[in-house]
Amino acid sequence: MSQPLWGGRFTQPTDQFVQEFTASITFDQRLYRYDIQGSMAHCRMLARQGILTTAEADQILAGLTDLLTDIEAGRFDFSVALEDIHMNIEARLIERIGPVGGKLHTARSRNDQVAVDIRLYLRDEIAAILAFLTSLQGALLDQAEANLDTLMPGYTHLQTAQPVLLAHHLLAYFEMLQRDRGRLQDCSRRLNQLPLGAGALAGTTFPIDREWVAQQLGFAGVTRNSLDSVSDRDFALEFCAASATLMMHLSRLAEELILWSSADFDFIELSDAFCTGSSIMPQKKNPDVPELVRGKTGRVYGNLISLLTLMKALPLAYNKDMQEDKEPLFDSIDTVKGSLKIFADMIAQMRIKAGNMRTAAARGFSTATDVADYCVRKGLPFRQAHEVVGKTVRYCVETGKDIPDLSLEEFRRFSPLIEADIYDFVTLEASVNARTATGGTARSAVAGEIVRARQQLEGT
Ligand code: ARG
Repeated sequence: MSQPLWGGRFTQPTDQFVQEFTASITFDQRLYRYDIQGSMAHCRMLARQGILTTAEADQILAGLTDLLTDIEAGRFDFSVALEDIHMNIEARLIERIGPVGGKLHTARSRNDQVAVDIRLYLRDEIAAILAFLTSLQGALLDQAEANLDTLMPGYTHLQTAQPVLLAHHLLAYFEMLQRDRGRLQDCSRRLNQLPLGAGALAGTTFPIDREWVAQQLGFAGVTRNSLDSVSDRDFALEFCAASATLMMHLSRLAEELILWSSADFDFIELSDAFCTGSSIMPQKKNPDVPELVRGKTGRVYGNLISLLTLMKALPLAYNKDMQEDKEPLFDSIDTVKGSLKIFADMIAQMRIKAGNMRTAAARGFSTATDVADYCVRKGLPFRQAHEVVGKTVRYCVETGKDIPDLSLEEFRRFSPLIEADIYDFVTLEASVNARTATGGTARSAVAGEIVRARQQLEGT
């Protein structure tokens, strides 16, 4: 069995179960590439500073390269006795190149090592997530473009409010995701400081060059306090918070897709590829993918709370508790990536039932506000106009009529200000296209926003 690297002060071996309980190798092995990348930069720096000889550094670098090849080829046997990814790699290095491998850990501790590994890893994962985000936003824009003339009911309280363009509705999600992008980019920028060189907690007695290592690893700078460097997990928290918000947005979209694909709404049809059937009811086509994304939002919230609770009240600097940072972080990364990917494909393939959306948009007196606005333009204070149209709607409800079907005589019972041109204002198109101010649902405004959104996306 592999021996731990810290056995010196111990007289008894660690209990087998304790070993398993304290090990993180089962989940932190995914950091291997970043662990090796960090070690290589550290090793080169040690040689540049004369802390290692060039020959020693070359041996170590060659050994690390071999280990990377082995791991990627699936030839590396991860050992629980060696606790974590850092000691697995270091122990195998020593095994392979001899005691000189033991010089790699000069001027370093696992505490600053793990901090640099997670930062490198998360930096890459955020870049990957941003690419998935771009695909989803692209799919939303494509659908928006294709549905620039598709009318649908806009809701508040899930009650028909005013007609909107489906394109406008989809662009609302584009905006949410654009803010999510900003949060993730902020997180990536803030985490991009090298913690390596903090040692276990107090710094190191060796003449290291942290700035050089930072440059090698693509960090914008170095962290300024060794205690903070090994005890900070703000970057993971920020990521988990940004992920929770992003998933909240996806779950709102998921909820709408689920509603819209029900027989009662019947606004869209999701491609068969994203649905499943029922084992008993032959007619069922269930929207499993949006349901699962809505469900998975819960675990991403949970991950944020786990991490906040984990870090709460920990004394400086490193504590073993912090090993528990990885699973929530990894889970949020995996969930967000998977959800974005599957949503991009699903949105691209979703079929819009424009006729049904239009029919629904015309229900519920959705142009009532337009009649009120009409009266206001004729000089009536808005509050009175609201009252006039309220009574008109009540009349419609009682007589089973719709606003555009009323005769001019009927309209004028409620206000003599209403004239024959009222009919130009109560169609769905007129209602939508009257809302031309920036951010409104008029076709011209929405077309402009699509162009703007495309440019934003191309700039990313
Ligand atoms: N596996 C550990 C973690 O993930 C690495 C750091 C361990 N440091 C220590 N002093 N035990 O946090």
